Amino acid sequence: MSISTENNILVAENVSKSFDNNLIIDNINIHLKNREIVSLLGQSGVGKSTLFNILSGIYLPDSGKVYLKGEDITGKPGKISYMLQKDLLLPYKTVLDNTALPLIIKGMKKKDARAKASALFAQFGLEGCEKKYPAQLSGGMRQRAALLRTYLSSDGIALLDEPFSALDTLTKSAMHKWYLDIMAKIDLATVFITHDIDEAILLSDRIYIMTGKPGEITAEIVINRKKPRPDNFNLSEEFLEYKRTIVEKLL
Ligand SMILES: Nc1ncnc2c1ncn2[C@@H]1O[C@H](COP(=O)(O)OP(=O)(O)OP(=O)(O)O)[C@@H](O)[C@H]1O
Ligand SMILES: [Mg+2]
Repeated sequence: MSISTENNILVAENVSKSFDNNLIIDNINIHLKNREIVSLLGQSGVGKSTLFNILSGIYLPDSGKVYLKGEDITGKPGKISYMLQKDLLLPYKTVLDNTALPLIIKGMKKKDARAKASALFAQFGLEGCEKKYPAQLSGGMRQRAALLRTYLSSDGIALLDEPFSALDTLTKSAMHKWYLDIMAKIDLATVFITHDIDEAILLSDRIYIMTGKPGEITAEIVINRKKPRPDNFNLSEEFLEYKRTIVEKLL
């Protein structure tokens, strides 16, 4: 199957990858439109992070291509921002310097990078934290700082590998609300890895289900509900219907 790169800012076409002659992901096709939030949902070990490493150019696939805005970026790192599964802020740098880092790496002057990052602190719920160190922040704040850093290096697209999985239920729920709110305001398309079905339904425009060994995309589910979604969406019959469908497809 070939997917047109038109209207899609990111396309993976027929991507396969083995490690030590062991096929891990097989013939993956996914695409992402402007400002879309797409989740990749699948069990542990199915190959989600492996696919992200290919999308971000860190791994070269055995076969297949990755296109960013129509340009072939297969095996070319540094084009798409990627928040790793265990994203650690640098402990010896202030929160402001942590978030400004990608801009400095790209060649921006330290003063300008700090000003650009600092201007977004309030929006990311980090007001007053500029001079603090990561260890002084709560888990939710650290994640928001990591998301701000990812956004600042994003150029319109970000890959987030389980950004909320380490948070307790209440913090996670607050982060979901915040995330939907901020995504309505900023220009960013996101592919988002999770194994939390509720999280995927709540946050996504579309969900790709990845199953099997080797991992394949075995279903695509469109969540037909405008974002941000109402407060009690996760208790609605509509939500449960999506959940039933997804659980069936994950088995
Ligand atoms: N660099 C590597 N070398 C060898 N095998 C690898 C490498 N990276 C991943 N694998 C293997 O590929 C498979 C998929 O791993 P991957 O990390 O992509 O899964 P995942 O879906 O992200 O799982 P989780 O939900 O636990 O994060 C695993 O069997 C893993 O051992
Ligand atoms: Mg993973």
